[in-house]
Formats: sequence, structure tokens, C-alpha cells
Amino acid sequence: MPTPPEVSRSDAAGGDPAPAAPGPATQALWAGEDQARWHGATQVPICQSAAFAYPDLDAWLAVAQGRAAGHIYSRNTNPTVAAFEAKIQALERAAAAVSFASGMAAISATLFTLLSPGDRVVSIQDTYGGTNKLFLEFLPRFHIGVTLCPTSDADAIEAALPGARLLYLESPTNPTLKIVDVSRLAAAAHRHGACVVVDNTFATPVNQQPLALGADVVIHSATKFLGGHGDALGGAVCGAEDLVHRIFHFREITGACLDPLAAYLLLRGMKTLALRVERQNRNAQAVAEFLAGHPRVARVFYPGLPGHANHAVARRQMRGFGGVLSFALAGGWEAVRRFLPRLRYVHRAANLGAVETTAGPPATTSHVESTPAERAAAGIPEALVRYSAGIEDAADLLADLRQALECD
Ligand SMILES: Cc1ncc(COP(=O)(O)O)c(C=O)c1O
Repeated sequence: MPTPPEVSRSDAAGGDPAPAAPGPATQALWAGEDQARWHGATQVPICQSAAFAYPDLDAWLAVAQGRAAGHIYSRNTNPTVAAFEAKIQALERAAAAVSFASGMAAISATLFTLLSPGDRVVSIQDTYGGTNKLFLEFLPRFHIGVTLCPTSDADAIEAALPGARLLYLESPTNPTLKIVDVSRLAAAAHRHGACVVVDNTFATPVNQQPLALGADVVIHSATKFLGGHGDALGGAVCGAEDLVHRIFHFREITGACLDPLAAYLLLRGMKTLALRVERQNRNAQAVAEFLAGHPRVARVFYPGLPGHANHAVARRQMRGFGGVLSFALAGGWEAVRRFLPRLRYVHRAANLGAVETTAGPPATTSHVESTPAERAAAGIPEALVRYSAGIEDAADLLADLRQALECD
């Protein structure tokens, strides 16, 4: 990362002291960008090579044994991928970061690294559908105990912690936008010696930094807001050196590495992360307020609404409420079937966090892998619309929603 010029106290605007660390917009642009390494290229190039050649065995062995910097094989490390890792590490203010082929690869590597047969993990009922499948289907096969608590019941989560190895949280949750009190639960988990993992995909480091709230590990589906353009899959895990190194080791052996082309696309997308997220926060708030006042909408789930059950916690732990909301229509599933195709400015697709608005129900998006019974057990309504606000003009999104709601 090029060193920005020092700003002395007297040079700073209004005589204010220079900030201790660069802000997220600056980090999103400059962190991980090492021009000297890339012959002065202003953008990190795609280093599309499976392996790296060495003229002599001594230099090769020094890299293999960790005595010299370098790369051996792209399943282990790759320069473009390393730049992506450096950028998300800086944005989450973590000591270390490791990337993955997808968010689910990041989540499963974290759980299978930190848990062993006989351990127990405590989590919430409202995790993303794929994560929920890991808890219900895969971890039990490895004799790992799973306790899934009601998401909004912090007392129940605390009561489940004694004897647990790991507390796994997601906030806001997908797709019902519940908020968990990360500081309170992280402190409780640490009192019982449990490690705390938080999926920060919905919030992004622009809106929320779980490590500062007491988490040990932060996970991202980089496919979503980090990349922001719906054109690349990826995942990331951030945290302390020793934890991240153990998770990296699991990945280098099991093989779910990030591809250099995907790393390049994610890096390019991340440059505008702060701008996009600020706009998406504003658009989601405007849409949530509009829908909350519309007679054809039965219920709106968005932590930025004062009526949200955990609005006060969200205000405390988030700098913005995020770009995703969900809502139920008064007419149930039939109304959703009629309403969704009428929207002009949305992709009806199983993604979120992209520059274009994206919408769909849980049965084809967040919980596509779950059965109706599993969705019901997790309290996920079938006739829900998850709406990820893009960066369009808010007035156009509101007009589009109005015409789709009021068409008949
Ligand atoms: C909150 C959350 N975590 C993890 C994932 C999984 O990410 P990926 O699809 O990149 O594997 C998703 C996907 O929608 C998600 O919404």
C-alpha cells in the first residue's frame, strides 16, 4: 500500500487532528494496492498462473519453508488474491484475512477448523439458509452438537453458552433483518471460553465492524456488497493471526481457494464500496419508509425503522442500517406472484448487494436449499419479498414499487 502524505496537525482542515487510521472509503481504494510489486501498474493485475517458477532450488525452498516472501502454487497463495485479502483485512481492521471461493466456503472452513467432534456450537435460528443447512445437516454428521436459539432472545442465547466451543452470529439476518447484540453476546461467550464468529455480509465493514464489538472472527460473502456488481463469487474470513492461519491451512488443503480473476473483479468492485453502501443505506431507508406506510404491505422488516424490535441495538452497533430490507404483502403468496414481475427496476434473482436492485422470495433466494418445513421452523414467511436496494435514484425505486403495488 503506498504511504499517503503525512498531514500535520496545522495542515488538517479546521486544525482538527488527523484521523488515527484511514476511513473505509480511503481503505477501500488504497489498502492492498502495492504498485511497486506490479511495475507501477495503478490497478492490481490478474496474476493468472497456477504455479510460480524459481531459477534455483535454494530460493524455491526458502519460499516453501516461509523464510522468504513469495508464492509457490495458487491453491496456497496468489498475488492478486493476496491483494484482495489485504483490502478486506484493512477494512475490517483485522490482524489477518484469508479468502475463499465463496461465502459458504468461508463459513464451512471456519466451522470445520474451529470445531471438533464432541464440541458444541451455539447459533441463531435465522442464519442464512446455507449456514442453517451446515448446522442441521453437516455438523451433526461429524458429531458436533448444535444449539439454535431464537434470534431475538439474547437471554436464551446466553443460557445456551456454558460448555459451548463457538458462538456463531449473523446480523442483520437474511432475510428477516433481525439484529443481535454483538457486544453483549460476545462478552457472554468469552466468559464461557467460546470463540465468537460473526457473518458481516449484510452490514459490510462500512456499516459495522464486529471485531471492534468483541467478535474474534468476521466472515463475508464477498459475492454480495464487497464485490457489488453481481459478477464474481468469493468469501473472506478476518481475525487474529493464529485463528486466520488455522483457517487458511484448512483451505489450502481442502482447496476452496479464490480464483485470481474473481479476486480482480472483487478488488475493482471494492474501490467504490463506501460510496455504494452509503447510497444503498439511503435507498433502503426510503423504500422501507414508503412500504411501511402503504396499505397493501402487511409488514416491513428493516432495522432503520424506529418500530423495528432491535432498532436501539442497531443504532448502537451500526453506522448505517444496510441496503437490504424485506416485506410481506397483505395478499400473501398470490399477491407476491403478481407483484414481483411488475417491478421494472429489479433483477428477480438469488443475489443481493449489487448495484442494481434485486428482489425475490426466500423459497428462491436465501432459503432455496431449505424445505418449506425448515423455512417454517426457522420462522421465515413464504410470502416475503427480500429487497436489496441498488444505487438507482430513490424516486424511481419508489415510483416503481407504487405502480407494482397499485396496478390492480
Ligand atoms: C448472510 C450470508 N452469508 C453467506 C452467504 C453465502 O455466500 P455465497 O453465496 O458467496 O457462498 C450468503 C449468500 O446469500 C449470505 O446472504
